Amino acid sequence: MDKLVINGGKQLEGTISVSGSKNATLPIAVAASILGDGSSVIHNVPDLRDVETLCAVLEVLGAGTKFKDSTLHIAPRNEIAFEAPYDLVRKMRASIYVLGPLLARLGRAKVSFPGGCAIGPRPIDLHIKGLEHLGAKIEIKEGYIIAQADRLIGTEIDLSGIHGPSVGATANVMMGATLARGTTTIRNAAREPHVSDLANFLNAMGADIDGIGTSVLKIHGVKQLRGTEYSIVPDDIETGTFMVAAAITGGDVFVKNAVPENLEAVSEKLTETGVQLNWTDDGVRVRIRGELRAIDLRTEPFPGFPTDMQAQMMGLLSVIPGISVITEAVHTDRFMHVAELNRMGADIRVRGHSATVHGVSKLSGAPIMVSDLRAGAVLVLAGMAAAGQTVVSRVYHIDRGYERIEKKLTGIGADIVRVVD
Ligand code: UD1
Repeated sequence: MDKLVINGGKQLEGTISVSGSKNATLPIAVAASILGDGSSVIHNVPDLRDVETLCAVLEVLGAGTKFKDSTLHIAPRNEIAFEAPYDLVRKMRASIYVLGPLLARLGRAKVSFPGGCAIGPRPIDLHIKGLEHLGAKIEIKEGYIIAQADRLIGTEIDLSGIHGPSVGATANVMMGATLARGTTTIRNAAREPHVSDLANFLNAMGADIDGIGTSVLKIHGVKQLRGTEYSIVPDDIETGTFMVAAAITGGDVFVKNAVPENLEAVSEKLTETGVQLNWTDDGVRVRIRGELRAIDLRTEPFPGFPTDMQAQMMGLLSVIPGISVITEAVHTDRFMHVAELNRMGADIRVRGHSATVHGVSKLSGAPIMVSDLRAGAVLVLAGMAAAGQTVVSRVYHIDRGYERIEKKLTGIGADIVRVVD
């Protein structure tokens, strides 16, 4: 198991490039493999463990996949299997994305029920509700979701849950509805950039989706989708992580490929702390001038502040004088990173769904263990800001969602070495 050894205290300077979005790539690869007649070529695909795991799932279901130099070639085979077994789904929750497409294409699907994960319980009631509204008969049996429908039929569906709209349910239902008979209207659809990227990809395959980027999606069913060529949107969460990296090290960094409209909430909060942002055509310059201020923030579905940036922002706030309060309203138990940050000298107290961050003047390096992807990101950020050495273990969590993180950060002045055990 790899470790990252970080010698902190280096100010980051230079240009760092953002890769394609992980969360867009996953459903897009599923759509290309199951819904499309003919091959697809997908560019700007990040080289990540999650993409590799998903390709293994798609190979078992019946698609040939080839990944080279950020381009993923997907060639669906004639026979598509309808079952995604536990052994595959347990490795990655996003395998649930095959449910809607399999139903739409084959009229049946058997997908292992995904479990919870380190960031808390992850129900799929909205996925099931949505597909049932489209006419599927669904039962849960022996750990599997077994779904059947001769042909999905367009209808009106409200996909809001107790924590707001669901990214996964919106994607699953939208993919299913592309081949349904008639028009499907999804109200309270998730609006995250990766949902819009999926919708744009589906339209490139021949789907007919209106309202992209809004909370009402209208999907006019078509008979057939074809393979296509497409380029994945830059990853908003990787962008935000690098913006915080610049801020937490007191650096001056140009984050290339940053897309401003996908980062409004993050930019707003960073600006509120006093971080200077200068947007240009192809990215954003992030630098610090003067003292930063404590702020409060609350995670919300897009266009609100993303839960996937909560940990990283907490890292930054932990070294800003004053008291900041962070409320996690999406994945309400997502505070596993707090204990590790406190081991590095932070002063953060969690009560219910909120964390109160008392800013300290300095973090200190420590051996730390990553519990999940974004918790991993903040520990790398904290390690870069800390005095002394931080050794991060269980790096595989970080490799799920960040492409060669140590290589990219070393390129702008960080001192990070990967040690292979
Ligand atoms: C996706 C992202 C994840 C991000 C999350 C929220 C991918 C692969 N993952 O996860 O990185 O943290 O969006 O932006 O894109 N919920 C229900 N019932 C459901 C589905 C969800 O109650 O059927 C709840 C969840 O427990 C959570 C909230 O809705 O509280 C949002 O979850 P959702 O948007 O579905 O997250 P994912 O699609 O799993």
